[in-house]
Amino acid sequence: MAVTDLKKMLTDARDGGYAVGAFNVENMEFVQAVVRAADEERAPVIIQTSVNTLRYAAPEMFFAMVSAAAAETTVPVAIHLDHGETREDILACVRGGYRSVMFDGSLLPYAENVRMTRRIAEVCGPLGVTVEGELGAIAGKKNAPAHSRLLYTNPDTAADFVRQTGVDALAVAIGTAHGIYKDTPQLDYERLDDIRRAVDTPLVLHGASGLTDEQVRECVRRGIAKVNIATELRIAWTETIRAAQKEAPGVFDPKKAAGRARDAVCGIVREKIRVLGSAGKA
Ligand code: G3H
Ligand code: ZN
Repeated sequence: MAVTDLKKMLTDARDGGYAVGAFNVENMEFVQAVVRAADEERAPVIIQTSVNTLRYAAPEMFFAMVSAAAAETTVPVAIHLDHGETREDILACVRGGYRSVMFDGSLLPYAENVRMTRRIAEVCGPLGVTVEGELGAIAGKKNAPAHSRLLYTNPDTAADFVRQTGVDALAVAIGTAHGIYKDTPQLDYERLDDIRRAVDTPLVLHGASGLTDEQVRECVRRGIAKVNIATELRIAWTETIRAAQKEAPGVFDPKKAAGRARDAVCGIVREKIRVLGSAGKA
């Protein structure tokens, strides 16, 4: 199947009471692992790349890899820019073939976040490119402030933001953070309910690595339609490579360790897909 439209994937998830996994990939093996997992679970899936990853290899390279992998399965596969911070980030991905992007203006003053996100949506809309915006600050990102309840998404502001910008998906801050948690985070489920009541647009949960399965299920039950997972995949990859090299220090074929790491990433993606409820939804 060709690379698919993210917007419909997310409205289907919202209406169907499940969430689609959005998995950050780092290289070809991650792409293969995510698509294989989705194929085996018969699940729609989103492959996303951060701006840093796109400095390592261009959007055209990732788009080509994802297209090739998607062509080998019948499940829907979308490709998405994660946390784009400038117009240039967005346009580079659109030129590279992406049909879905995130503009993250969450650290800007509110009016500026609205203005920039609306401009991105105005450019992307006519091109058929889906736009995810972010409101409230999810801790753990570069330049992000320390974890603070004051930065959680306000439901009324969320409704205003969606109305003014016309985004297709909205990332919300309800207590998750990017990276590794020191303690299990406390999520503000009531806030999520209030946002869901105020906003019809599909909602996105960032920072899902390290949450318990029950926390993720609860967020999905309360209306999250897209769940971003990066750190757990990176850890699985790196630990598997380290173990393989330790076990066989005399092996110089990179495919041996990378193949095992690919299997490890695939296994985690399969588990996450089941927790999100998207298995069997393709
Ligand atoms: O945008 C990416 C994510 O929000 C991933 O967060 O690294 O905590 O899984 P994570
Ligand atoms: Zn994120």
